[in-house]
Amino acid sequence: MNLLVTGGAGFIGSNFIKYVLKNYKDDTILCLDKLTYAGNISTLKDELNDERFTFVRGDICDRELVDNLFKNNSFDAVINFAAESHVDKSIENPEVFLRTNIIGVEVLMDAAIKYGNIRFHQISTDEVYGDLPLDRKDLKFTEDSPIKPSSPYSSSKASSDLLVMAYVRTYGLNATISRCSNNYGPYQFPEKLIPLMTINALNGIKLPVYGEGKNVRDWIHVEDHCRAVDLIVREGTIGSIYNIGGNFEKSNIDVVNQILEATGKSQNLITFVEDRKGHDLRYAIDASKIEKELGFKARVSFDEGIKETIKWYISNRNWWEEILNDKYIEKNNEIL
Ligand code: NAD
Ligand code: TYD
Repeated sequence: MNLLVTGGAGFIGSNFIKYVLKNYKDDTILCLDKLTYAGNISTLKDELNDERFTFVRGDICDRELVDNLFKNNSFDAVINFAAESHVDKSIENPEVFLRTNIIGVEVLMDAAIKYGNIRFHQISTDEVYGDLPLDRKDLKFTEDSPIKPSSPYSSSKASSDLLVMAYVRTYGLNATISRCSNNYGPYQFPEKLIPLMTINALNGIKLPVYGEGKNVRDWIHVEDHCRAVDLIVREGTIGSIYNIGGNFEKSNIDVVNQILEATGKSQNLITFVEDRKGHDLRYAIDASKIEKELGFKARVSFDEGIKETIKWYISNRNWWEEILNDKYIEKNNEIL
């Protein structure tokens, strides 16, 4: 297949590119990424030497650029990972979330239709469902759960999901949507819980836990997420939404304690800070649809995955130190 992968210099998109190039020798990929603060060209340094891979720096909202890419490449499928993805940043400044996460999706879908109804897959999130109570372990999100987002980030993602389904119905767009739970693994930007806490622990800096640390997330290793997306793109039913989850529910404080234990650091490093505004209490995914329809089940257990991920951050200090000292921005800016 010849794929357009957007947002491939970020965490999940880059892992997806690595997954596809490793597993499909005949596939080619063009990555379109704006290299915002969350994109890091160093993450793709091996892929840049692979003749099956092309990188274009650009914005998914740039209609002329996107049109030209579709005109000049016969894409078999488009997988849209590009997004503003951090809840805390969306609370500070929602506007860029609306632009990239909604208008950007519209621009990509318009081009997909114009150039022959190209297969389109939208990477969404379980956060579109809002949250679940902490004391009702029996409740999980299904694909039919109401859309009830809490943050500007999740409401922008919910908006694009609605737009994708409207394009399927109105224009017959060949599209699917996946809604995944919280990912962790290599190359995650250190603004998110697991890399932030790991790096702070390694550097002996305080670990800021919001509120009392009781909020629960359902964790999945990024490689499992990528495998699920790949299955949906190749075998999913057009017009379908698929939940993806690891079925590893953990409170934030348990995750942080596990990181401290694995890095051999003291619990004294934990500091409880002011809670996030509108903080979602619990996410939990019912992933039985993708299991029944496509035979997908997450393989990496949280205990194994978190150990491996911490090891990765220990042996790839250079990757995250260049983020902490902003050197990665200089490298990004060498890409015109
Ligand atoms: P990320 O922030 O690490 O990466 C986003 C990438 O998109 C960056 O490389 C950035 O440069 C690029 N980008 C941003 N705006 C762009 C624009 N206008 N044009 C082109 N490129 C642009 O994000 P991530 O964690 O890899 O998430 C990828 C996708 O997965 C997002 O759609 C997110 O909503 C979704 N998702 C993430 C998680 C998670 O736990 N991280 C869970 C479920 C779903
Ligand atoms: P995050 O990684 O931002 O993902 P999301 O908000 O999309 O789930 O946060 C995961 C959980 O960790 C969330 O409940 C907020 C909490 N958190 C902290 O307690 N401290 C932090 O410094 C961060 C970044 C997150």
